[in-house]
Amino acid sequence: MTRKLLVTSALPYANGPIHLGHLVEYIQTDIWVRFQKLQGNEAWYVCADDAHGTPIMLKARERGITPEALIEQVGAEHRRDFAGFQIGFDNYYTTHSAENRHFSELIYTRLRDRGAIDRQIITQAFDAQEGLFLPDRYIKGTCPRCGADDQYGDNCEACGASYSPDELKNPVSVLSGETPVQKESEHYFFRLQDFEPMLREWAASEGLQDEVSNKLQEWFDAGLRAWDISRDAPYFGFEIPDAPDKYFYVWLDAPIGYMASFQDLCHRTGVDFDAFWQPDSDAELYHFIGKDIVYFHALFWPAMLSGAGFRTPTRVCAHGFLTVDGQKMSKSRGTFIMAETYLRHLNPEYLRYYFAAKLGSGVHDIDLNLDDFTQRVNADLVGKLVNIASRCAGFIHKRFDGQLGPRLDSPELFRRFSARAETIGGLYEDREFARVVREVMALADEANQYIDEQKPWVHIKDPDRQADVQAVCTTGINLFRVLMLYLKPVLPKTTEAAEGFLNVSAMRWADAGQPLLDHDLQAFKPLITRVDTDAIAAMVEESRENLKPT
Ligand code: MSP
Ligand code: ZN
Repeated sequence: MTRKLLVTSALPYANGPIHLGHLVEYIQTDIWVRFQKLQGNEAWYVCADDAHGTPIMLKARERGITPEALIEQVGAEHRRDFAGFQIGFDNYYTTHSAENRHFSELIYTRLRDRGAIDRQIITQAFDAQEGLFLPDRYIKGTCPRCGADDQYGDNCEACGASYSPDELKNPVSVLSGETPVQKESEHYFFRLQDFEPMLREWAASEGLQDEVSNKLQEWFDAGLRAWDISRDAPYFGFEIPDAPDKYFYVWLDAPIGYMASFQDLCHRTGVDFDAFWQPDSDAELYHFIGKDIVYFHALFWPAMLSGAGFRTPTRVCAHGFLTVDGQKMSKSRGTFIMAETYLRHLNPEYLRYYFAAKLGSGVHDIDLNLDDFTQRVNADLVGKLVNIASRCAGFIHKRFDGQLGPRLDSPELFRRFSARAETIGGLYEDREFARVVREVMALADEANQYIDEQKPWVHIKDPDRQADVQAVCTTGINLFRVLMLYLKPVLPKTTEAAEGFLNVSAMRWADAGQPLLDHDLQAFKPLITRVDTDAIAAMVEESRENLKPT
């Protein structure tokens, strides 16, 4: 039975470039979706830029352009970077769209009409000079606990304390440098607490990761509270229908952006939107996200959907954060590497492979160690995988007119390789990519060992053993083909090149079982080259230079 899947990655903010940290998520999701498609499932991968909110409004102002112009420009850069890494979105949209406005208003009014929206007057820091209520991050001052200067309004980087901005001593607005005043305003709240039974049931029924379940339990224990979903003008976003000068908080319309992007895809392709979003839908809905945004995806989002009469997510798949050489990405160390910078120096398939080799289904952080990266890619992809093909292709081309023979020298070995399709498929399904890579590399070792033992370079000199050599090389090429198929979700470009060399149409998962016999190959070109360490050094150097303010 073919499954129907709708898969999303979190929507990157439209005020900054894509960096290697983001790519952990987009590469992870893309591998999973490619695997689903390879299996013949109907999978749709949608995403969008997260275009609303105060930081985007202010950044546009700072550059002297409209927010619309800013998000347009950044959106184009994001698309370019994702394409460079072969992230195969079926649709990439923006939250600043007619569809998103429609669904945001619809969900809000349905929630309001069932009594799930409260109004309440709150007091907040206000920059009177700028005429703007200040988000916590736009207030700085002295830490109330340790006395460190120049700390943000929500937490202290010196002592780690969290607090509310009105506790901060000597607060100033980051925008004007003025002392903020306290000002009242009416806000709209989503009554999350009403959804506790529904959320508990949702959490119990879905195969959530342990870390996520534990977090949810903590939040339940602490008690759910109403969520402030409105912001005052000026704000870049959608106005709340019945409330002039009040806007939806960016985090209200951001996840709705998943639906809006899918709606846009449905308009273009004729896919049935309702079949994916009605409460009785038999389609599966997966959200890949970073561990920092679990609260939004595992509490607010399922509650909003359920309250508005839509289906809830099948699963939220959270991943950890990227560190580089064991530390937080850092501009001064040159380890805050933008996607664009990486692409100027290195092959994107290296990073896809390296992340795959590190990713599991858990929420642990993953480390990009640049020496390990070089060593790993060179040893595995060049030294093991592609080596199998290059060791056999020469003989096939020079001696056998580029033709695979009529039989395999070792059908058992081939059968053993194809029989791994199910295990490896199961590991992909469970997002255990590191284990996929380990399995495939163990098989690659076996293939190389087989060639070592058969010594085609010795037997080729014996006129009586030509057919045997052809059968050995035919086996080797067929083993290579199965391994490339297993890595196809990870290495789409390299696999495409391998398909060219193998002279076959796009491989599907089901192709693992049948060997290619009596078949013409195309000329062999090195499918992937060694990592150039100078290129890595240059990339790090350029990332340091990116320090220049933009
Ligand atoms: N706009 C929100 C998401 C809205 S989803 C309805 C957002 N944007 S973000 O640009 O900050 O992050 C996008 C995704 O990238 C998030 O899932 C985030 O966790 C992930 N990552 C951002 N930096 C990361 C690392 N350094 N490492 C791994 N993932 C990281 O959050
Ligand atoms: Zn402090």
